Amino acid sequence: MGKIAPVRRLVILLLVLALPFFVVACGSSSSENTAPETVEGTLPQEEDTGGNAPAEGDAAAGKEVFASAGCAGCHTLEAAGSSGTTGPNLDESGTGYEEAFEQISNGGGGMPAYKDQLEEKEIADVAAFVAESAGGRR
Ligand code: HEC
Repeated sequence: MGKIAPVRRLVILLLVLALPFFVVACGSSSSENTAPETVEGTLPQEEDTGGNAPAEGDAAAGKEVFASAGCAGCHTLEAAGSSGTTGPNLDESGTGYEEAFEQISNGGGGMPAYKDQLEEKEIADVAAFVAESAGGRR
């Protein structure tokens, strides 16, 4: 009898000492897991594609889209190293982001529409690239 109590005390002591580590481990892993859940449902991106330009595009990614989608064949844009002359010189047009997004999505005036060829995100990216490179009004 007299021998069991100290052992128990030791076990309890060890548990008490170990407890903070478990708490820390659980705490950090559960906060990692809850991060995406808190965001879920609050981003309307998928639903909100009624033709309006997304808040902003990624100009760096847009540079690649500009090159791969064939924009360079028709447009001069110094930042893209292109010298096409079929469409307006984008260094001079001063096209803003929203305007560029519209034109790239819907085309017109001799330019093809890209909304069926590019993801909305890609259009936003290339529009941001054009607007930023040309110092366009926003
Ligand atoms: C076949 C040739 C052609 C291609 C390819 C083309 N465009 Fe155009 N683009 C034009 C023409 C022509 C216009 C002028 C349209 C107008 O005046 O109504 C234009 C207009 C624009 C404008 C509006 C410029 C302004 O006046 O403010 C932007 C921005 C633009 N293009 C970006 C792009 C991007 C980005 C791509 C690639 C995803 C692209 N274009 C591909 C021919 C082209």
